[in-house]
Amino acid sequence: MDLSDLTRDLEGLRDSSLASIAASPDVATLEGLELDVLGKKGRLTGILRGIGALPGEDRPRVGAIANGVRTAIEAALLERGTALRGSALADRLLAETVDITTPGRPIRRGTLHPINETIAEIASIFGQFGFVTYEGPEIEDDVRNFQMLNIPPDHPARDLWDTLYVDVEGQLLRTHTSPGQIHVMHTERPPIRALLPGRCFRYESIDASHASEFFQVEGLMVDEGTTLGDLKGLLDQFAKAMYGADKRTRFRPGYYPFTEPSVAFDVECLVCGGSGCPACSRSGWMTILGAGMVHPVVLQFGGLDPERYQGFAFGMGVERIANLRHSVGDLRLYMENDLRFLEQFR
Ligand code: DAH
Repeated sequence: MDLSDLTRDLEGLRDSSLASIAASPDVATLEGLELDVLGKKGRLTGILRGIGALPGEDRPRVGAIANGVRTAIEAALLERGTALRGSALADRLLAETVDITTPGRPIRRGTLHPINETIAEIASIFGQFGFVTYEGPEIEDDVRNFQMLNIPPDHPARDLWDTLYVDVEGQLLRTHTSPGQIHVMHTERPPIRALLPGRCFRYESIDASHASEFFQVEGLMVDEGTTLGDLKGLLDQFAKAMYGADKRTRFRPGYYPFTEPSVAFDVECLVCGGSGCPACSRSGWMTILGAGMVHPVVLQFGGLDPERYQGFAFGMGVERIANLRHSVGDLRLYMENDLRFLEQFR
């Protein structure tokens, strides 16, 4: 082994390596090649082992040639590697393109619950008359739910409301939204125009027309000089906005402890138009709410002087309003949350 043998071997290794590198079809082959030629136990190292046999003055020359060979091979590896990796990415990009013509997966759109939707509709109609929406607590005390509404303990009118009590003395689940009147009178000064939607609770045996949980919307207006005529005009406008401008309405005498006088408010039957049918018990009318002029005692409990202020109030059952709007015949449907029912209200 002399200088020229070694030089020939090195140049041979360089030429064959460069050819193999140029011909490498993929990155894995290239990496194998690199290990085989430049690795610790690779062919370059193998050739350089022969250096020991050379005379001292020749060694640096072989070293210089070997370095040149290594540099040339490394450069070729880098260049080929870059090219192969680049085209691998290009291949993937081509193979994995997104088909933008595929139909999308539909997004399931939710809807407002028919009760919420009805409350929103009621609030929007009264909103046009300046009524602002408030909310009162679902757990009330006996004082606001009854006593301040002119229903003292042991008053026979308490039988109108089958009450669910909670474990705390004097506390109960509100049987109606009317205690909200007291809250509003305690926090706002007249003129007051308040709408109070909310969930109410009663001890009922449940059937198609009775539920132990249901919704009401309460209305309260208090000002100087408020009259029953204002109430009539407002409710008539409400019924026409809700059920159609051609609908006739009427007031009948009613009784509630917290209003005097009290009225029931009817709309002509939406099924028969007033001629009489089973839906309206042949009367031609459907009662949609109770109302009246706020009793002076209630104004006083609200901290207002009944000599100066008058008010009217009304309260309606939301399920009843929704039933009439959507021809639903069973209250329980609103609580069951069966999507087959709810999805109809889009
Ligand atoms: N709170 C009554 C009920 O639950 C409904 C009602 C009637 C509310 C007359 C009122 C009203 O504000 O004036 O049956």
